[in-house]
Amino acid sequence: KKFDFGMVGLGVMGRNLLLNMADHDFSVVGLDLDAEKAASLEQEAQEKHQIKGTTDVKEFVNLIEKPRAIMLLVPAGKPVDSVIGSLLEHLEEGDIVVDGGNSYFPDTDRRVKELAEKNIHFFGMGISGGEKGARFGPSMMPGGDKGAYERLRPIFEAVAAKVDGEPCVSYLGSGSAGNYVKMVHNGIEYAIMQLLAETYDLLNRGLKVQDKRIQKLFDQWNNSKELESYLVEITADILNQDDPLTDKKLIHLISDTAKAKGTGKWTSQNAMDIQAPVPSIDLAVNMRDISKYKEERISASNIYNWEAQKDLDLEAFLEKLKDAFYFAMITTYAQGMAQLHIASKEYNYGLDLEEVSKIWRGGCIIRASVLENFRKAYRKNPELPNLLLDKDLAADLNSKQSAIREVLNTGISLGIPLSVYGTTVSYFDAYRSEILPTNLIQAQRDYFGSHSYERIDREGTFHTEWED
Ligand code: 6PG
Repeated sequence: KKFDFGMVGLGVMGRNLLLNMADHDFSVVGLDLDAEKAASLEQEAQEKHQIKGTTDVKEFVNLIEKPRAIMLLVPAGKPVDSVIGSLLEHLEEGDIVVDGGNSYFPDTDRRVKELAEKNIHFFGMGISGGEKGARFGPSMMPGGDKGAYERLRPIFEAVAAKVDGEPCVSYLGSGSAGNYVKMVHNGIEYAIMQLLAETYDLLNRGLKVQDKRIQKLFDQWNNSKELESYLVEITADILNQDDPLTDKKLIHLISDTAKAKGTGKWTSQNAMDIQAPVPSIDLAVNMRDISKYKEERISASNIYNWEAQKDLDLEAFLEKLKDAFYFAMITTYAQGMAQLHIASKEYNYGLDLEEVSKIWRGGCIIRASVLENFRKAYRKNPELPNLLLDKDLAADLNSKQSAIREVLNTGISLGIPLSVYGTTVSYFDAYRSEILPTNLIQAQRDYFGSHSYERIDREGTFHTEWED
């Protein structure tokens, strides 16, 4: 009997996902050029698992049931193309290749086209949840040929995380839809991580609150209906971690220079291309970039001093902070989801944002209880251009507006950078403004470049000889 599924790349993610499939009684075969990895896959298998590891491409392909379902979990970029190249001569019409990495979505569109010429279906699928997710239930975001998805569906639904019995995987759309959705997922991930970091900075450096109290606060947030979420949960855990080498908390010994693999940057870059404003994500990318200039920051910190203290009722302030974080978090998701709405039209993905909200409720890094509310909002109105226009969410945000403004004021007066908080409020204020000062921009363009402008009281295009 042939195997149900094949995996190329037996790093932690590939191996864990295969073991997860084997747990659900699928027979799986893994390919890795590293003989040790291929062998260790079989060693890790339990008795009931039907698992095989190999280093031979031809044997691997021949072992899989037709039409073949093969996933690649190799580093994004050239390795994906070279693996596809090595598989191609052994594949047949109707076979399916799924790229499970964080590939750049235009690469996926190119690969879909190239393989379609050979009648092979190519899928780009975002997988979120890290190593543990892969082993015990990730959120999966597949895009590609709808009909071909049926071959993958039972396997993916079995291994995905479940929320109220519903699997956190859905067919999302054609072409690179899956990679695009995962890219924006990561953009939102960047912004929420930065919001949590800013919250910590405001309390720790700004208000001199003890770590223990901050950790308790995040714990309380995670245990509340509104803020229950993976990123808040792990932030509380992180603050609690002792350093094994000293008697300090580990967080104080970790370098503040951040790294990034690029998905956040791609989200912002593409958002600009399709004119989908996502300033909270842009700023989160910017803040990681600023963090790299450590030496310049040290120099600047010696030039510019700002010592300020704030007398406030801490417990009352922490209540407001909770509302402020909720406000910023919702408004951040709103930007990312609006980007998906625009991208879906731009690239003909046919995205269903109710489904996206549904599969982000569990398994992924940005899973949070509020996703259920987004799902309801999109169920009411599948074409909702922006979550800020949903009446139920609006009622929530309205009641928390003053809190975020007060938190922001506190941060500014203390000299603590609240970049994502700040830009989130500006985005909100711009989005809710019937009138923006862009009339002045139009006038300036016409003044120095005769670029013309439109009027609000009559039709047509106008130009003024301003200097006369
Ligand atoms: C996930 C994560 C995952 C990975 C990021 C990290 O959803 O499981 O997003 O994909 O951790 O690629 O991204 P950076 O290295 O850019 O922070």
